[in-house]
Amino acid sequence: MVDLDAVSHNVSELVALAGGAQLLAVVKADGYGHGAVPVAQAAIEAGAKWLGVAMVEEGAQLRDAGITEPILVLSEPSLDSFEDAFDLELTPTIYHRDAVHVAAAAALGRGGSSARWAVQLKVDTGMHRVGMSPAEVRDVAADVLASEALVLGGVFSHLAVADDPGRPETDEQVQRFERVLATLRDAGIDPGITHIANSAGAIAHPRTRRDLVRCGISLYGIAPSPALTGMVELRPVMSVTAEVSHTLTVHAGGGHRLRPDPPLRRGHPCRGASCGVRGRSASQLRPRRRRGDPRRRASGGSGSGHDGSDDGGGRTAGRDRGDHRPTW
Ligand SMILES: Cc1ncc(COP(=O)(O)O)c(C=O)c1O
Repeated sequence: MVDLDAVSHNVSELVALAGGAQLLAVVKADGYGHGAVPVAQAAIEAGAKWLGVAMVEEGAQLRDAGITEPILVLSEPSLDSFEDAFDLELTPTIYHRDAVHVAAAAALGRGGSSARWAVQLKVDTGMHRVGMSPAEVRDVAADVLASEALVLGGVFSHLAVADDPGRPETDEQVQRFERVLATLRDAGIDPGITHIANSAGAIAHPRTRRDLVRCGISLYGIAPSPALTGMVELRPVMSVTAEVSHTLTVHAGGGHRLRPDPPLRRGHPCRGASCGVRGRSASQLRPRRRRGDPRRRASGGSGSGHDGSDDGGGRTAGRDRGDHRPTW
């Protein structure tokens, strides 16, 4: 189940946390698997000002759904998709010089001589995923300015280990980023908006909040790491529920791995590893009453076997529903 009210709640919390910075809701990869369009709509309604996607196609999906807010394509589009990006009014990220020229040609070709298309530059300050090196930024920015069709809308970077508050690399990345911005300003270049914070930066490193915070994982209600849990009140957006197919009471010494004292009332859910639910998500499955199951009605007599009053064998467990745990 995807709880869009939880998205709204998380966005409100993150907007409040971000202070003067705007919130960019990262909805790439189909909204981290939650559904990009409904999550984007809920996020915008709750106060996000930008959306972030990885690919032009993902931006097209949001535009097709009628979303008009600014969309940053977080990675540099392939050279043959700049025209589409222009038509869709997306903001492309650039980190290669040839992409500046392709973007300018796309803007001129599709928008004519009056086109002014805002692009953003991504600099690699230590994440080592994508982005240009700090030494390249000034020249690429100068190319953008030299093109009448382009506007330098922003410069950004991405934090590598902000989810571990003790690591010195976050401050080092911030300093590297600030040096890049100072170089641009010294050259008389206005960088536009500047941003570096992901969820972990926004939550744990106030100094990284700048003009925009780009939040993904926290938007979906998950703290970026155990160390950051509870620093902002997040609600999980996705939950998996399963019907209980079988209940039993396990007595002390009655199980091979589990030896509960007092006896434990357990439910066995219909979904588990065999359905692709594994690891942490499997242990978070919550039992749900199986409606109208004829086996239940027959075995317990009262029809309330899943409330902990009957184990299918006529014994009374005396413990409530909260004691049912997944058993695989
Ligand atoms: C450039 C960029 N910014 C922000 C994010 C969001 O990061 P998080 O999910 O840690 O908030 C991502 C996600 O990978 C990203 O690629």
